Amino acid sequence: MGNLSSQRETFKQPSSDLLKAADFIVRGGIGGVPTETVYGLAADATNPDATVKIFKAKGRPFIDPLIVHVCDMRMAKEVAHFSDAALKLADAFWPGPLTMILPKTDLIPDIVTAGLKTVAVRMPSHPIMHELINISGKPIAAPSANPFGYVSPTTAEHVSSMLGDKIDFVLDGGKCACGVESTIVLMTSSPKKLLRPGPIPPNEIEKVLGEEIDKLPKTNEAHPQAPGMLKSHYSPKSKLTLFNTPEEIPADFDGNTIYLQRPQNPTQSDYWLSENGDMREAAKNLFSLIRKLDKMGKRIYCQRPPLEGIGLAINDRLKRAETKL
Ligand code: TXA
Ligand code: MG
Repeated sequence: MGNLSSQRETFKQPSSDLLKAADFIVRGGIGGVPTETVYGLAADATNPDATVKIFKAKGRPFIDPLIVHVCDMRMAKEVAHFSDAALKLADAFWPGPLTMILPKTDLIPDIVTAGLKTVAVRMPSHPIMHELINISGKPIAAPSANPFGYVSPTTAEHVSSMLGDKIDFVLDGGKCACGVESTIVLMTSSPKKLLRPGPIPPNEIEKVLGEEIDKLPKTNEAHPQAPGMLKSHYSPKSKLTLFNTPEEIPADFDGNTIYLQRPQNPTQSDYWLSENGDMREAAKNLFSLIRKLDKMGKRIYCQRPPLEGIGLAINDRLKRAETKL
């Protein structure tokens, strides 16, 4: 495996690392790629043999469909059929952390969608991922680049340390700006449904659509075919418990505690997701802090975020991390 690091700014002349990565993709290879949400494990979405490698490297069941990433609307329309509502959301939020479930075209093989007639589509805003899709000329299938069931990677190092020996390359695009996976909206149901809360809050989506969407799909029921919706996804190995106020933490607790913002007199076992309680910053730091504390192998208590904006997505991931298989 080569660890191909890339410059974020200089894409007028595509960097040689990007060209090498694009070459791997075109030839059916797989690799770790940065996006604004989390790192993905990329393959040519139109190549069934390449996408099989993603499932194998992750240990992901074949019933769990992949997200297809595109770089422009021309490519988007090659992979999915867009309704007027879908075009409106694309216009408002792409490129960016929104994934839409839409009817698929024949270009996308069944293995990518786990046999479903719909495909998950997203146009990422990270410049390296954008250029990779653009240069390879292929829509790119990419789930989060973690072994199935573990927390998603937000740095290139997370990807190399977990999957390095199973993949062809890692493109280093720095720490992911959002830190939690994209918001997923099912566009083919009536009403439309939020399948996964993410960086774009549901009320912003409703504003653009001019209609309400179903915001409470029941875990496991909304999409039995989609284990990403399973309660125990995103699990660290250490037991994680959520609290609202510090009084809920037992007096004899000897593990680590995660606060949303820096506590007044932090002890050695106190950690925080943001200096001053900024929830965007908290989301950005969430998975890397959980990963770091998980290595210590001690129990974790974590403060619940407010249930609004990106706090909805943080809370969703923490609740899944709290449940053990
Ligand atoms: O931010 C993200 O979305 C990241 C980056 C890499 O783009 N990707 C990501 O992929 O989180 P993944 O595979 O970890 O999560 C995709 C979720 C899964 O839960 C999958 O079941 C669901 O999307 N999904 C994919 N296609 C679907 C479909 N046709 N219908 C319903 N759910 C679908
Ligand atoms: Mg995932």
